[in-house]
Amino acid sequence: MTFHRHSISAQSFAQEVIAGLSSSPRTLPPKYFYDQRGSLLFDEICRQPEYYITRVEMDLLSRCLHEIRAAVPAHSVFVELGSGASTKVRLLLDALSVRRYVAIDIDPTFLLQSTQALAHEHFNVDVHAVYADFSQKFPPLPLDDFPVIAFYPGSSIGNFEPAGAVQLLRNIATFAGSGGQILIGRDCSTDRHQLEAAYNDKAGITAKFNLNMLERMRRDLGADIAEDAFAHHAFFNAPQNRIEMHLVAQSHCTFGVAGHQFTFQAGETIHTENSYKYPDRVFHSIVQQSGWHEVMAWTDSTQRFTLQLLST
Ligand SMILES: C[S@@+](CC[C@H](N)C(=O)[O-])C[C@H]1O[C@@H](n2cnc3c(N)ncnc32)[C@H](O)[C@@H]1O
Repeated sequence: MTFHRHSISAQSFAQEVIAGLSSSPRTLPPKYFYDQRGSLLFDEICRQPEYYITRVEMDLLSRCLHEIRAAVPAHSVFVELGSGASTKVRLLLDALSVRRYVAIDIDPTFLLQSTQALAHEHFNVDVHAVYADFSQKFPPLPLDDFPVIAFYPGSSIGNFEPAGAVQLLRNIATFAGSGGQILIGRDCSTDRHQLEAAYNDKAGITAKFNLNMLERMRRDLGADIAEDAFAHHAFFNAPQNRIEMHLVAQSHCTFGVAGHQFTFQAGETIHTENSYKYPDRVFHSIVQQSGWHEVMAWTDSTQRFTLQLLST
């Protein structure tokens, strides 16, 4: 297994936090959820009964493996964006005779653990772990001359605004090259009740995950935010087709972070994440604008989740 490190500085964390908290409305980039604790919490979210997304996508992947195998070249490089626990890709590595697996993630500790475990189980796959932030320019990737298939599961494309999603897909097209493909998973549910339950699990794991952003600011940036100053809030914004996650100030408060002071009124929020549930029509337009074209699509029996194979 080979580890590639592309440094992500504590300085850019501080800069993005200060910029986000100074803006109106106040925001923090969701990529900063993922330190070691955040990654473990996300893994736990995937096991919550209300969080249908992982189960439905795994099931859909298993059921269409046959067709995916027929549509993609053998002996390819699989490049997973935001590989986390590398759970879903295991289904594909076995079935598709993948030559090389390149896992990209922003959390180096979880990335290393997950890819080491995977390399032990799949000794016929050449495993590369790339610690990088793909919301910036993609770093050079170990692709050699193998055909490239990008893998972007988990409906993580929904964390990007439409324009950001177009830009990301364009960047992927650049490294995938001519004939490159991407297999992308997208939650397209519009069931408010089910969506809000998924992002407000009864065990409170998503709440801990959201609040972990503040924990990280305390630890890495010396933020003096009181333990109970903010609470988790997630709701479906139907006109925008997205789940919004916020941290809501529980009372008037002032705190310092990286040499800056911020004051919040009671009820004021920090918007930490969007999860767009892109309908087919909107996603089709995103794909077209980014220069990809649709090869195949599979939707689960409840019409909540779509897997799509795109080609450059
Ligand atoms: C929602 S989780 C999905 C994990 C897994 N792919 C799945 O489908 O269950 C998002 C993953 O992307 C990683 N991630 C988020 N933003 C990133 C960025 N800008 N660059 C690299 N990795 C990122 C996180 O660390 C996390 O592992």
